[in-house]
Amino acid sequence: CGITACIGADDSVESLVDGLRRLEYRGYDSAGIAVKNQSGISLTKRVGEVSELVAAVEKDPISGSFGIGHTRWATHGGVTDGNAHPHTDESGRVAVVHNGIISNYQSLRAELESKGHKFSSETDTEVVPHLIEENLLAGASPEDAFRAAIGSLSGSYAIAAIIGDEHAIYATRSGSPLVLGVGEGEYYLASDVPAFIQHTQQVVYLHDGDFVVTSLDGYSITDSAGRPVDRPVEYIEWDPETATKGGYEHFMYKEINEQPGALRRTTQGRLDTRTGGAKLDEFPPGTFADVQQVHLIAMGTSHHAGMYAASLLNARGIPAYAFMSGEYSVVKPPVTPSTLVVAVSQSGETADTLDAVRRARSAGARTLAVTNVVGSSITRECDDELLLRAGPEIGVAATKTFSSQVTALALLAERITEDYTGMKSTDSRELMNALARLPGDVQEILDTSTAREVAIEYEGSDAYFFIGRGPAHPVALEGALKFKEISYEHAEGFAASELKHGPLALVTPITPVFAIFTGHEDEATLSNVKEVQARGAPVIAVTSDESSEIAEFADHVLSIPETHPEIAGILANVQLQLVAYHAANLLERPIDKPRNLAKCVTVE
Ligand code: G6P
Repeated sequence: CGITACIGADDSVESLVDGLRRLEYRGYDSAGIAVKNQSGISLTKRVGEVSELVAAVEKDPISGSFGIGHTRWATHGGVTDGNAHPHTDESGRVAVVHNGIISNYQSLRAELESKGHKFSSETDTEVVPHLIEENLLAGASPEDAFRAAIGSLSGSYAIAAIIGDEHAIYATRSGSPLVLGVGEGEYYLASDVPAFIQHTQQVVYLHDGDFVVTSLDGYSITDSAGRPVDRPVEYIEWDPETATKGGYEHFMYKEINEQPGALRRTTQGRLDTRTGGAKLDEFPPGTFADVQQVHLIAMGTSHHAGMYAASLLNARGIPAYAFMSGEYSVVKPPVTPSTLVVAVSQSGETADTLDAVRRARSAGARTLAVTNVVGSSITRECDDELLLRAGPEIGVAATKTFSSQVTALALLAERITEDYTGMKSTDSRELMNALARLPGDVQEILDTSTAREVAIEYEGSDAYFFIGRGPAHPVALEGALKFKEISYEHAEGFAASELKHGPLALVTPITPVFAIFTGHEDEATLSNVKEVQARGAPVIAVTSDESSEIAEFADHVLSIPETHPEIAGILANVQLQLVAYHAANLLERPIDKPRNLAKCVTVE
């Protein structure tokens, strides 16, 4: 879910709706706004995309000089107008938006109902306005009523509220993101910076437990006991244009095309191309001298980047294992103080990953976050952080952040290797030079790819399979994930060796197989290609070696520039991103907002 709030001199409706549009990637099954005006709180909420809300507001205009907004991804209660946020109390004096889960809402609701409160939705959120109302009735000031209500909640939340006649917005966070935008005589609150970046680039990252009150006169931040806390105002260097589509039909396509720039920023100042080795200011030589093994924890696309990194580390003799963070707390792999747990999360807010980090820390491991979002929760939960610098990613399907994750992790792997073995890996100089060429290599693919032709040729197939070995295995999984999440077609990725142990039964002349060659036992993968071709399946090879036997056997080649084998997977993945994009576009899918999915999953 995403929340927005704004207070300023002008009417707030446009800013709120605009902010919601920019946050729609966080959830989009319903949206709503509440604004304050002379006659009280005006509320509009609708099932569907933000455009439905816009249509409703155009039909029955509302106005107000400050207000709150929400875009929902349902967790408690079905997708109905009634369950959409904002939620109010019975008197209509309080309106609340919430992102996260209130785990003790059932007991709170029962208690409030026993005191006569009437609920109108099935959500966990609705307890909050009623709790505030209860405190107001007992004589508390709006701020005290808000504070006391929050004090009774368990779970994870970012909450913003408007209360009574006060010309102010009250907000707090605990386990869900919330940032404050500081403009000229206007203030914004939101789950993420793109919601208000066009109004101000001055941002305060709030911490768990912070309470904010914003009014026309300014803002105050206090802790739960009401003591002032000092949070720096940071200047965000994003060009506000990077949070808009900038002429592209979809954010995803724009972000695929932004990869050369993103990779340049990820590697900037971090490559020693002369003598080899990674130059990471955050982690000078010796930082990882005590590390004996590495666990990589992540979900979704980030998990695939984690698998990729595990394969790079293992190839250098360092014990490394990739886990889905959702499984990590259940499987409980043993850790010691010499275990480095690397949490990979684009958003830095994924609940499963945060939970796994906490588990790792309490078991005594050292933790390091690899994330794209400055000031995100994961950077606070982990001992150290490595930033991707990929720029904002809005499309739900992660693209440029995957490339930047693998690249940043390759640099981290170099630094860890040097500390673990006492020397640079033998081909470190070649690898650093290949990383320096990576932005140009990706650009070459963007300029010459025939992915659209492939998408057209195989449209309407029964299923799409992706195979690869070593680092190409996570690329196969990622290729399939991207394809299925935006096209809704059946797609599966396999280790090439796995194929004949079951999946081959699914292979037919109408199941194209994408085979990824990155110089890791390519001959064995070629044998697998022959096996599927013998069953009539068309093969699309992703390879740099167009003149080889691979090209001879393949029905179609998606070519990648020749590079170091350890990063060839990043290039192969760009081709597969393009295939998925074009396939979904041919089917006219809502590419940036695939059904049932959200960019940032802040619930377990
Ligand atoms: C969601 C998104 C995926 C993403 C995953 C992990 O499922 O839809 O695209 O890979 O979360 O997100 P993170 O922000 O932790 O990388």
